[in-house]
Amino acid sequence: MDLGIAGRKAIVCASSRGLGRGCATALAAEGVEVVINGRDASHLEKVAAEIRALTGGTVIAVAADVGTAEGQAALFAACPEPDILVNNNGGPPFRDFRELDREKLLAGVVGNMVTPIELIQRAIDPMIAKGFGRIINITSSSVKAPIAGLDLSSGARAGLTAFLAGVARSVAGKGVTINNLLPGSFDTDRLRSGQQRSAEQRGVSIETIADENRKKIPAQRFGQPDEFGAACAYLCSVQAGYITGQNLLIDGGAFPGAF
Ligand SMILES: NC(=O)c1ccc[n+]([C@@H]2O[C@H](COP(=O)([O-])OP(=O)(O)OC[C@H]3O[C@@H](n4cnc5c(N)ncnc54)[C@H](OP(=O)(O)O)[C@@H]3O)[C@@H](O)[C@H]2O)c1
Repeated sequence: MDLGIAGRKAIVCASSRGLGRGCATALAAEGVEVVINGRDASHLEKVAAEIRALTGGTVIAVAADVGTAEGQAALFAACPEPDILVNNNGGPPFRDFRELDREKLLAGVVGNMVTPIELIQRAIDPMIAKGFGRIINITSSSVKAPIAGLDLSSGARAGLTAFLAGVARSVAGKGVTINNLLPGSFDTDRLRSGQQRSAEQRGVSIETIADENRKKIPAQRFGQPDEFGAACAYLCSVQAGYITGQNLLIDGGAFPGAF
């Protein structure tokens, strides 16, 4: 299916690895000019070259911390009026909620709620003026079902979701959609580092932890970043113009609800 977005421009935040990279690659494959981002400049350049080689697309690398004013300015300097904005960032580390002092709490809220809102504030009016915009926020399945130790991540992302629920309706008549992608367990560096930590805590191998976790998922496997990227590209498509303010859970059936 032709998604109708060839020639569009996208900023994909935090996209040198994992889910963000999956989204950037899928958009580049559709002919979207993509700005990719991460803090590690040499790794980012390597990934930009790999995505160019794979897709033949235009990929611009912006090494920056997306949570800072300078980082955000650098992203918009590279792509002043994106048609597509994919919000992503690192997540807070696993921590018992008792250990979260004010500084840590604020850092989590800034990273996973304030930062995407700031980027949307910058991007949205030119989208409205053009009559086309697609905003995707990578949140988490933990918005729907808590994960012990990730309370700050869940809370900040739920705050973002609620904030944008109203914003999405306010721009729906202007050709701009805002949707959230909720990953369950995807095979990324972040997932593996969590497995490594559990393995060390329990004194077992990382393979044991990965096997146990895999068996808890009805699909019996972890998701792959390219599957996630394909969902992102679809929500950015022309065909998805009537889908807005939605939360798409992609978790291999792990959340046990009918709705
Ligand atoms: N994987 C899962 O199963 C899963 C499940 C639920 C939620 N999530 C959430 O989804 C998001 C992506 O997860 P992932 O698994 O793809 O993580 P990942 O594999 O660790 O990749 C994170 C990416 O974000 C970049 N990044 C991190 N902090 C950044 C910053 N301040 N500024 C710019 N770039 C930054 C990293 O590059 P640099 O380090 O070079 O900056 C890297 O490219 C996270 O918020 C995570 O909590 C993931």
